[in-house]
Amino acid sequence: MINNPLIPESKLPSLGTTIFTQMSALAQQYQAINLSQGFPDFDGPRFLQERLAFHVAAGANQYAPMIGAQPLREAIADKTAALYGHLPDAERDITITAGATEALYAAITALVRPGDEVICFDPSYDSYVPAVTLSGGIPKRLALSPPHFQVDWHQFAQALSPRTRLVILNTPHNPTATTWRKSDFEALWQAIAEREIYVISDEVYEHICFAAEGHASVLAHPQLRERAVAVSSFGKTLHMTGWKVGYSVAPAPISAEIRKVHQYLTFSVNTPTQLALADMLREDPAHYQTLPAFYRAKRDRFVNALAASRFTLLPCEGTYFLLADYRAISEQDDVSFCQWLTKEVGVAAIPLSVFCAAPFPHTLIRLCFAKQDATLDAAAARLVAL
Ligand SMILES: Cc1ncc(COP(=O)(O)O)c(C=O)c1O
Repeated sequence: MINNPLIPESKLPSLGTTIFTQMSALAQQYQAINLSQGFPDFDGPRFLQERLAFHVAAGANQYAPMIGAQPLREAIADKTAALYGHLPDAERDITITAGATEALYAAITALVRPGDEVICFDPSYDSYVPAVTLSGGIPKRLALSPPHFQVDWHQFAQALSPRTRLVILNTPHNPTATTWRKSDFEALWQAIAEREIYVISDEVYEHICFAAEGHASVLAHPQLRERAVAVSSFGKTLHMTGWKVGYSVAPAPISAEIRKVHQYLTFSVNTPTQLALADMLREDPAHYQTLPAFYRAKRDRFVNALAASRFTLLPCEGTYFLLADYRAISEQDDVSFCQWLTKEVGVAAIPLSVFCAAPFPHTLIRLCFAKQDATLDAAAARLVAL
């Protein structure tokens, strides 16, 4: 006898609603200042909005090509050449996706086979592991330690096995705000050169990097890029996280496999935003070039405002996140502390343990500073009072 209604056996039994959705809902319920989910509380460039309106009015409202609108792919190719010294083939190497999330999912699905091991570094962005699991892969999560969260390349080499198929990294890194150096990419190459291992480099914060040597991209490494997928997103760069347009850059044989997934996941990304983004990249490259200074000013303002608090702040080399250690304020675990902070203090943050598999024995929270100065000042005033 079969029960009705049917209840599916979950493919992801340990997953619920993400902490980002939970904390944003809690922030709304308690009217807290929301520094939890990573999105700006200010708008993107007016020129971009005007170009979107223009393309809609001009009738660019039917399906875009499956691989993405040509002007956007060409603009990305030129930007990549200018920044990383590598000109990808706009026809074969670049695929426009529904945000970086889709690019990551399509790339992981294309590359990971059942039983393959996939290395990622904890804390890690929350979309990697579920995608690996759905493909039958086995996540191998290497824990990194504060304050610098650097990869121990000896430990990394020991984690490799004949089943290792893929390494997923993220720089600048959400949530720790650390960055990889060129030397890290070289160490990665030395470790995997003689093995059949692919790399996904999540670089959605490529233009929000404060490190002295600038953003190190996998695309700048001549050998690694031959087996790597670089993923980026316009949401972060143009303050338009709701537009959900991202892309992957990968050698043609890898891109061909990513596109097989993409064409049955979304088929194509909406047309007018792609054309507007192409106009933006061509006509206002200064926008992304000024992003480091724009966000550095916000970071410094927030850090200075928190200097009088009892939080210990960790170094921030990139992204629009800042880690704060609350050890001097509370003995609660980080999830309880963030709930308390939202309800009682009126500031929502993200606990770091949710980015990790193993118990995370630290008292760290992530604060998003992609906010108007007034928002940051108001949040800091509440945090300093603790
Ligand atoms: C590290 C990282 N990767 C990927 C994404 C997803 O980007 P998108 O909104 O373009 O899908 C985010 C968004 O927060 C992120 O922080």
